[in-house]
This record gives sequence, structure tokens and C-alpha cells, in this order.
Amino acid sequence: MDALTFLRTDHEGVLGILESLERGRGSGEAEVRARGNLVTTLVIAESQHEALEEQFFWPEVRRTVPDGDDLADRAIGQEDGAKKLLQQLKNSRAGSSEFEEALTRFIPAARAHIEFEQSEVWPAFADAIPPETSNELGRKMAAAKAMAPTRPHPGTPSGPGYLKTLGMVSAVVDKIRDMISGRRSHYPPTVPPA
Ligand SMILES: [Fe+2]
Ligand SMILES: [Fe+2]
Repeated sequence: MDALTFLRTDHEGVLGILESLERGRGSGEAEVRARGNLVTTLVIAESQHEALEEQFFWPEVRRTVPDGDDLADRAIGQEDGAKKLLQQLKNSRAGSSEFEEALTRFIPAARAHIEFEQSEVWPAFADAIPPETSNELGRKMAAAKAMAPTRPHPGTPSGPGYLKTLGMVSAVVDKIRDMISGRRSHYPPTVPPA
């Protein structure tokens, strides 16, 4: 699987969740509970996705794409902002004003970030990267997904170096905490490695 196909599949999953969240903003008990569960899945999917981009995709963009540093810096700035909102969502109760306010800010920011990546970064990436390199990158991301952190970790550096060392320790701790808390049952479906 090439890198952009892998990332597109992730984006489609996230967009699907955002769409459901936009449709259901009611305050009935069942609706609030469903929204909380959906947001847990969203936080996990987004945390994994951005961590994989930071470890594999942005370093390749910086290395190969003209103006890659600028594109990667802008994208990572957006991702860092999103992580703070994801953290707020994770730490608040569905239905509370803190939660609903974070969600109201997160949905358009996430859509704008995906749009930025797909319309500004991906075409430049596709022009600059040979297909074999893109395939190799896609394989690496698919294989690493199971190991990626499931929580946003907004206080930690967003570079690839961190994830290769302490980030992986955080990911293991995340998984153990998820297993104990039952959060594991909210994991999004995984893409099978190509
Ligand atoms: Fe991203
Ligand atoms: Fe992305």
C-alpha cells in the first residue's frame, strides 16, 4: 500500500466519525453517551494517525518535497493545536460544557487540517516521491499502527526522534491503560498491512 492510500483510509475513517458527530449534537442521555463513545474512538484514531505522520510522513516530506520544511511545520502546528483539544475531549465528560466546546472547535479544525494535507501536501508529495519509496513508507506506517500511541500526549515533542524512543514507551503504557479501563473496546478498525 502506498503512503497516500494508507493516509487516505485513515482520513476517511476520521471524516466518517466527524460527520456522525455533526449530525448528533442532541442532549438526550443516550445521544450524549453515544457521542462520548464516538469521541473516544476519534481520540484514539487521531492520536495514532498523527503519531504515524510525525514519525514517518513528515520526515520524508522534509527530505524530499520542495518547501517540505514549510509544509511540515505548518501541518505539525495544526496537529499540536488539535492535540490540545483532543486532550480536553479525553479529560472531560460528554455533555459537559468543556467537552462540547472542545468538540465544536475540533470538528472544523480537523476538517481544515485534512484538507490542507490532501490539497497542499499530497500533490507535492506525489510529484516528488518515487512510487517505491511511497510503497515502503505505506508499509512502514501500516506495520507501526498497532504500536502507535492511543492518547494525544500534547506535552511531548512532535518530532520523529521522540516517537522512536520515549513515544513507543508511552504507546505501550497507553495500551495497558486502555486494556484496564475498557477503552480498548473503542479502538477504530485497523487497516491490514499491505
Ligand atoms: Fe496530520
Ligand atoms: Fe493526516
